Amino acid sequence: MNRYDHYGSDRPWHSRKRVWAGVAAAIAVIIVIVVPVGVTVHNNNRYPDYKKLTYSLADTYAGDNIFDNFNYFTGYDPAHGLVHYVPQEMAQQLNLTYASSSSAILRVDTSVGPGSNPNASTGRFSVRVESKKQYNKGLFIFDVKHTPFGCGTWPALWLTDPNPAIWPANGEIDIMEATNQAVTGNTVTLHTDGGCNMSVKRKMTGKAGQKDCHNTTNSNTGCPVAADVAATYGQAYNNAGGGIVAVEWRDEGIRTWQFARGQVPADITAGTGNPDPSSWGTALADFPDTKCNIGSHFKNQTLIVNIDLCGDLVNAVYKKSGCPGTCTDFVANNPSAFIDAFWEFGSFKIYTAT
Ligand SMILES: *[C@@H]1O[C@H](CO)[C@@H](O)[C@H](O)[C@H]1NC(C)=O
Ligand SMILES: *[C@@H]1O[C@H](CO)[C@@H](O)[C@H](O)[C@H]1NC(C)=O
Ligand SMILES: *[C@@H]1O[C@H](CO)[C@@H](O)[C@H](O)[C@H]1NC(C)=O
Ligand SMILES: *[C@@H]1O[C@H](CO)[C@@H](O)[C@H](O)[C@H]1NC(C)=O
Ligand SMILES: *[C@@H]1O[C@H](CO)[C@@H](O)[C@H](O)[C@H]1NC(C)=O
Repeated sequence: MNRYDHYGSDRPWHSRKRVWAGVAAAIAVIIVIVVPVGVTVHNNNRYPDYKKLTYSLADTYAGDNIFDNFNYFTGYDPAHGLVHYVPQEMAQQLNLTYASSSSAILRVDTSVGPGSNPNASTGRFSVRVESKKQYNKGLFIFDVKHTPFGCGTWPALWLTDPNPAIWPANGEIDIMEATNQAVTGNTVTLHTDGGCNMSVKRKMTGKAGQKDCHNTTNSNTGCPVAADVAATYGQAYNNAGGGIVAVEWRDEGIRTWQFARGQVPADITAGTGNPDPSSWGTALADFPDTKCNIGSHFKNQTLIVNIDLCGDLVNAVYKKSGCPGTCTDFVANNPSAFIDAFWEFGSFKIYTAT
């Protein structure tokens, strides 16, 4: 408004009309500018209510017969690695899967060298096991005693619907994943189809990479969160005796925590009761449902453990990691380099909310 405008009943009608036009314009300005800014601020602060759920123990994977709960994936590696994933009988013969009352071990073959017949030039023997049971939400507690590492390795502990015709419509949750010497620690990643956006408020100690989880963006990088602590994977993690990895998957979001031995919350150590993630402190990775409908993007998840060699993710970083020669030459010709390429687990416990 200009300085000639006054409010008052003695003003001529056309002047009063101007005043009202000005008030209307001001209100329009408020609606057009102030309200959206307010809504944006509100959206940026949106955060789900991760209220306490009541969990009870549904499944325990442990002991001598642990591998009976899994199918052995065989055939062509979908991630283009230099591996031959072997069936159960052969895995037992080669001792690539081994279970005792206290541990389950999955490893890469270390016997086949360049002089062997057949040799490993088309792939080194390895394993990929997939739980027979599929899950829809839950609290997953993994006791991980040793993680595989070393040049050429690409191991993972993950959840997905393994049907290639469906992927990624039912989502993928990479719980532990690393490549080569894995000196920077663990990375947690989601992969989805379109419409899962992590450019939102999150509460986590890890560092977010790109935030669109859609598999078609950034060459299927997904939406990764890198641990802030190196001893969450690899040699440093193993030397400390490993630890506990916890994943809570619920409609409000997906969160993971990692606890070193000796720092495991009592309600996890107890192993039977009703664990309460809200008492565990800040998560390592937090994927809230603010701009990603977790309930519709994640379904029918199978628990998968594998050790890939070379393949898509390693090939992208092999040289940068300071590993020798080419990945395929290294994997084919250096069996003794894979002595540390094994997973050792205590148990997996899966709780469901009641
Ligand atoms: C298989 O591996 C386990 C664990 O490393 C080991 O204790 C066992 O002796 C191995 N068995 C054979 C037959 O080599
Ligand atoms: C590996 O085996 C293939 C097929 O038998 C052979 O052509 C190749 O020379 C072998 N590589 C080495 C390093 O012995
Ligand atoms: C994700 O959300 C951010 C913040 O609102 C927005 O800028 C971005 O365009 C969104 N990305 C996608 C792929 O929807
Ligand atoms: C992403 O998933 C679609 C299936 O929805 C598939 O056709 C496409 O090849 C995938 N792209 C990448 C880069 O993974
Ligand atoms: C999940 O698996 C069940 C049982 O195999 C099937 O009936 C259902 O259609 C699947 N749901 C989705 C979304 O793939």
